[in-house]
Amino acid sequence: MKKLILLLAAIAAGASIARSETVIADVFARTTTSLNGQWRVIVDPYDTGYLDYRRLPYDESGKVTGGFALDHHAKDKTELVEYNFDTSPTLNVPGDWNSQNEKLFYYEGSVWYRKKFDVNKTAPDHRLFIYFGAANYEADVYLNGKKLGTHIGGFTPFAYEITGLAKEKGNSLVVRVNNSRHVEAVPTTNTDWWNYGGLTRDMLLVETPATFISNFRTRLKPGATNTIEASVQLDGAEKTQAVKVSFPALKIAAEMTADTNGRARLEMTAPGLALWSPESPALNDVVISSGADELKDRVGFRSITTSGTDVLLNGRKVFLRGICIHEEEPLAGRRAWSAADAKELLGWAKALGCNFVRLAHYPHNEHMARLADEMGIMVWEEIPVYWTIAWTNAATLANAKKQLANVIARDQNRASVVVWSVANETPVGAARTKFLKSLVDEARELDGTRLVSAAMEVHADPADPLHKIVDDPFGEFTDLMSFNEYVGWYDGLPEKIDRIRWTVKYPKPVFISECGADAKQGFHADALTRFSEEYQADFYRRTLPMLDKIPGFTGCTPWVLCDFRSPRRLLDIQDGWNLKGVIGHNGEKKMAFDVLKNYYDEKAKADAAK
Ligand code: GCU
Repeated sequence: MKKLILLLAAIAAGASIARSETVIADVFARTTTSLNGQWRVIVDPYDTGYLDYRRLPYDESGKVTGGFALDHHAKDKTELVEYNFDTSPTLNVPGDWNSQNEKLFYYEGSVWYRKKFDVNKTAPDHRLFIYFGAANYEADVYLNGKKLGTHIGGFTPFAYEITGLAKEKGNSLVVRVNNSRHVEAVPTTNTDWWNYGGLTRDMLLVETPATFISNFRTRLKPGATNTIEASVQLDGAEKTQAVKVSFPALKIAAEMTADTNGRARLEMTAPGLALWSPESPALNDVVISSGADELKDRVGFRSITTSGTDVLLNGRKVFLRGICIHEEEPLAGRRAWSAADAKELLGWAKALGCNFVRLAHYPHNEHMARLADEMGIMVWEEIPVYWTIAWTNAATLANAKKQLANVIARDQNRASVVVWSVANETPVGAARTKFLKSLVDEARELDGTRLVSAAMEVHADPADPLHKIVDDPFGEFTDLMSFNEYVGWYDGLPEKIDRIRWTVKYPKPVFISECGADAKQGFHADALTRFSEEYQADFYRRTLPMLDKIPGFTGCTPWVLCDFRSPRRLLDIQDGWNLKGVIGHNGEKKMAFDVLKNYYDEKAKADAAK
């Protein structure tokens, strides 16, 4: 965990910013003031508020010399100020701007957000932070006209300390959020999902004691069944404080003094510890305390390993009954962000008979993994190294590493999270494989207790198009041979599925990270009519038994739970939606839903009978 904190600090310090980002874990268990709600906004397609007419940033020197960040108001009728947050429109936060205002549906560029807030600290020596659940894609953050920092990456949390900068009354928090796409970014310019922009997740004012617990990790000691390992990181002047980790219900606790880096590692034995699994998602209340700080959380313990071509959960072979999910609330056609959204999406997955979900293709909000813990659903989390990224660009690699480190720092205590995925459908090549290998190494170093993989691709045997081969050299470094296959949709018609045979190079568990076909909910025709429910259902009826024949097949996450918005889907019947959901964007199930559900019910019965 020390490496994790240092890594985040180092990467954050890389960019020329006023302050470095801070990791604040378990934010929902802290003293916070919500900054959610209506924010004043200015849509700024020419970055007039950020760049002067010579296109130089107003905060080039770190000191803000002009622009909207100052939230300035004309002193009198003579002063020329060509913006005014007090009279500008508002947008809801959390929320993407695209679904809130028709004019912004396709908008990619800068939007300025401004929130005024007061501070009411519970103790004078306490510290204050502004916490972002996420901001897509790039965020320049200012408080009372001072630059706090620039965050890049749209799907992981970040925070800035404002102790000493915040006033008691009338603080002006200004954020320039820009979701323009760039070749060297992560993700890059081309995605099959909507580029929702904005302050898309919870915004919080966080108060902590002078020295606080910035992060902690609890887990089952590798190889053990009832030994709990805990590590705690303190942030503040009093680094060598006593740290205590206790599990009241288990009647166990451990205490030690943190080292000079504010780190403490503790171990304790929990006789008869109930392990977490989808069938019994056992969670334990944990209390982490040090000095004036105390955190409470609910954590589960389990092991996830592989053996040959099997995936073992707590040492037992398990079949992964999964589905892919985008972080979108389909009925409203917006970015999902709340616990209620998570409940809706995971509720549908549960109704499908799933014990596993792939959160595609970027880290979803924290509510998803927390609810998956409670509901007993295993989770695959992924960073948006999607399709063709700038493999030889060092900043792109650093960005990808940071997103990986951020999601691990946020979700490392979630028993439900069992796979870190570092990429999706990336083209085989030396630079790419080197890039991905370094992400795998990073994930293993930051957290050696989960599986690491990626969604790889398939190619056909040049001599026999019915012979599919999975021999991506990157497979050497992953724990799963996980790949996407679309025989019967992008490759031929469903009848081809029955005649396919597979060769998978590496003797590892085979996992189908995507397979699927489009269907417009409610459109019925014969099974050869594309976009009909019958075509999609036939696709599934043929695909599932075909997958069962692949040696080492251990599970799948078909593409996709619900239809989702995509700027690449322009056919009339698609109307800007990817229609591969087994549930329509009206929330209605398609015929394929029951085909998949029946298959999973059989698998669940077979697993339970073992
Ligand atoms: C790809 C990709 C998805 C995409 C899907 C599709 O495999 O990973 O992001 O939406 O195929 O084409 O529907």
